[in-house]
Parts: sequence; C-alpha cells; structure tokens
Amino acid sequence: MRVLIVGATGFVGSRLVEALLEADHEVVAFSRSANSAEFPDGVEPFEGDLGDPQTLEGLCEGVDAAYYLIHSLTAENFAELDRTYARRFRERASAAGVDRVVYLSGISGDERDLSPHLASRREVESVLSAGEFDLTVLRAAIIIGTDSTSFRIVDDLTDRLPVMTVPKWVRTPCQPVAADDAITYLVDVLDAEATRGGTYDIGAPSVWSYQSLLRQTADAKGKRVLIVPVPVMSPELSSYWLRLTTDVQYAIARPLVESMRHPVTVDPERDLQNVIPIDRTPVERAIDRALTG
Ligand SMILES: NC(=O)c1ccc[n+]([C@@H]2O[C@H](COP(=O)([O-])OP(=O)(O)OC[C@H]3O[C@@H](n4cnc5c(N)ncnc54)[C@H](OP(=O)(O)O)[C@@H]3O)[C@@H](O)[C@H]2O)c1
Repeated sequence: MRVLIVGATGFVGSRLVEALLEADHEVVAFSRSANSAEFPDGVEPFEGDLGDPQTLEGLCEGVDAAYYLIHSLTAENFAELDRTYARRFRERASAAGVDRVVYLSGISGDERDLSPHLASRREVESVLSAGEFDLTVLRAAIIIGTDSTSFRIVDDLTDRLPVMTVPKWVRTPCQPVAADDAITYLVDVLDAEATRGGTYDIGAPSVWSYQSLLRQTADAKGKRVLIVPVPVMSPELSSYWLRLTTDVQYAIARPLVESMRHPVTVDPERDLQNVIPIDRTPVERAIDRALTG
C-alpha cells in the first residue's frame, strides 16, 4: 500500500515510518520539516504546513491509507488550530479518494468532564469521522518511549528532587502503552478489515497510577524518591511547580498535566487486544527501554 504519514517527523511518526517500510508499504512522510529530516531510503518526503493551504497541493494524491498524527499543543489556541487542520486534511483525503485514515487520539476515562486537551482530541475524531474514508481511531494514554513528551514529564520529575510534593492527581489510575506496542497496533490495523470505522483503546497489560509510574521510573534509574501528594494545589502553585519540574515546553506540559486529573484506562469493550491480540510489553520493560534510548 502507498501510505501517507501526516506528522512523520514526530515521536510516533518517525517510528511509524520505519515500521511501515518493514511491512513493505510505500511511505510518504509529511510535516513542516520533512525535507530536512533524515528518513530511511525509499521514503518520499512531502514538506508542507497544515496552517498554509497552498503548501498542501497534491498531499493525498495516489495514497491508499493515511495516518493522522498532528497536534498543536504548543499554541494557546490549539483547539482551534487542530480543528482547522483536521478539516483541511479531511477535505484533501476525501477529494483524493483515500480509502482509510488512522488517527491516534487520547484515552479519557470520563467523557463528560474532559480537559481542554482531551476535548480537542475528541473534536478531531469527530471532524475526521465526517470524511469520505473509513476512519479508525486508536486512543492511548501516555506512550512510553524516548522522546515522548508525556513520558519526558514523568522522567524529568524523577530527576528533580528526592522529596516530591505533587498534586493529588498523582494517584489517578493510568494505563500507559509501550511505544513499540503502539506502533505494532498502528501498523496491524491496516491489515485488519474489522477495524474499519472502529474506535479502540490501546494500553499495557496492567493499570498503574502516576505515582507508581514515577516510582518505577525512579527505581529504574536507581534513585530514591519520596512522593508527597498535596490535597489542594492552587493554579498558581501548580504552574510554578510544573515550570520547576520539567524541561518540556511549558505550553505543552500544562495541557497534558491538566489531563492527568482524569483516569485514563483501557475500556475492556474497546480494547484493541480483542481484535488484534499482540504480546504486550510490561510497563517495567517499556520504562527500561525508554530510559536506555
Ligand atoms: N506521545 C504520547 O504520549 C501520545 C499519547 C497519546 C496520543 N498521542 C497522539 O499521537 C499523535 C502524535 O503524537 P506525537 O507524540 O508523535 O507528537 P509530536 O512528536 O509532537 O509530533 C507531531 C508531528 O506533527 C507535525 N506537525 C505539527 N504541526 C504541523 C503542521 N501545522 N503542519 C504539518 N505538520 C505538523 C510535526 O512536525 P513538524 O513540527 O516538523 O511540522 C510532527 O511530525 C498526536 O495525535 C497525539 O495526540 C500521543
């Protein structure tokens, strides 16, 4: 298949480029920095900006399937941008007759009280679902891998202080997924006809909390940390705390950390394991791999 990756230079996209090549697909790699990126031989770069329609001419031509891996979390108005970008992509993919689109979204425990970040991820799902292609949505919580923004927040936290005063969301249940497993699922849905039009959750074999993830990450680095959740943390203290505890750009870290109030676990009925069973990586191993690069 000729497969377009929209967001091919990012954390997920760059891994997906290699995995799709290994699965014998032709790959078109799109992003604003595609021409300067170092892709493996055979990859066709397509440089463009979803914010500039003139750069999108011919984007989906001759493409059988596309992965949509875009977010604009660095911008204040990320929801507006992500809505506009998804519409632009949807129009081009529909006009070019793309057969299937796969979108990697976020898991949310409670659909009634979504953080702005997760509400925006849902809105992109809804925009894409109106396209003239079969949409498959995979929803993930933290993807554990080197260079994953959300995992870097966890990693940075364990580097900062031996005693961590943290917001109480640290006890929220979460079910991360290993980067390798997320990529395997993403590649495998292309061959799984049953996943056309479906929405699935993906996750590790067990449920964790941010607290246990922090502990496991600290242990893997041979560090001792004492985690002290504070029942109430004012927005001011919370943002001060975040600036102190991670090198991840504040504009990205803030909406991600806001989302950590919500449990993010796999809904057993929506678990992609039911359709595509894979040998899932335990979180402990995923953390070790992410830390050793
Ligand atoms: N990482 C996680 O833990 C995680 C968890 C759950 C879901 N997800 C979802 O997975 C998807 C990919 O995440 P990621 O972590 O791989 O993100 P990422 O590393 O930030 O990659 C984003 C990609 O989008 C491209 N991009 C951004 N704005 C663009 C624009 N205006 N025009 C063209 N390309 C643009 C970026 O390349 P340029 O900057 O070069 O343009 C990059 O290739 C997102 O939908 C995210 O919500 C991620």
